[in-house]
Amino acid sequence: MLIIIFACLLLAAVGPCDATSCSATTALWEQIEGALVKVSVGPAGVWGVNVNNQIWYRDDTYGTATNLGGDWTQVDEPIFSLMDLDVGDDVVWGITLKGKLTCRKGINEATPQGETWKILKNKAKDVAISPNGQLVAINELGQFVYREGLSSKCSRMGKWFAHTDSSLNLTQISVGEAGIWAVAADSKIYYRPGSMGDTGYIGTEWEQVNGGLVSLGVGKDFVVGVSSNGQIWRREGMASSNSGGTGWIQLTGDLKVVDAYNGCYAWGVKRGQDIWLGTF
Ligand SMILES: *[C@@H]1O[C@H](CO)[C@@H](O)[C@H](O)[C@H]1NC(C)=O
Repeated sequence: MLIIIFACLLLAAVGPCDATSCSATTALWEQIEGALVKVSVGPAGVWGVNVNNQIWYRDDTYGTATNLGGDWTQVDEPIFSLMDLDVGDDVVWGITLKGKLTCRKGINEATPQGETWKILKNKAKDVAISPNGQLVAINELGQFVYREGLSSKCSRMGKWFAHTDSSLNLTQISVGEAGIWAVAADSKIYYRPGSMGDTGYIGTEWEQVNGGLVSLGVGKDFVVGVSSNGQIWRREGMASSNSGGTGWIQLTGDLKVVDAYNGCYAWGVKRGQDIWLGTF
């Protein structure tokens, strides 16, 4: 601990130090009522999809995602179904049942559930949006694709690029302050060096880190992930000089899907579809 504090004092001269911000290995898990198969947390709050592909927003989590919130409100105006979703700043991106990218328009503090869904022609297996508006996805071939520049807006505009330089078969992707991270069909874990800081720079290549995960969420200065047997892991030692971090620390608890955003907490769902908020 002393060493960490001392390192922070040294680093304080060059930038903010978050080295001590998420250090607990005993996560405190609190169950939230309801049942979901997917959950995401971001600036616009906590959203989820249930086993019937219905979409739910957690009341009172807009702007304060550590809130347990009040209740789940179904986002059913107009009637719509999603396979998965990801929460950004005043926007939610998702994947329709036909595999197309879609985004929710009209999200703001007064109408946190937004107003309409806009459907793009692009197909994707997974999508993620960073707090600053970096949009990334995995196409049907398991390739990394991204939209140029930062734009939190729900819009069909913008140039899409595919990174075909890689033979990786990616299955899930997440993007945030701690960079762009993804897992592949064989559970291997990859990040893009240089992508830390949510600046809009997507890096030039994937670099593998040790371990195996099936789901992960990128937070402010950590990545949290779950392995195929449900164990929860947090990546330690992320720094701009070493954006891949130094190692994995196991947290207490078990989950199937996990997501993180700006503090020392994560939202997740278990195999039985029950919903949990963990702080660590
Ligand atoms: C990628 O992995 C999926 C399983 O997640 C599999 O169905 C698909 O065939 C794989 N694609 C390639 C190109 O290997």
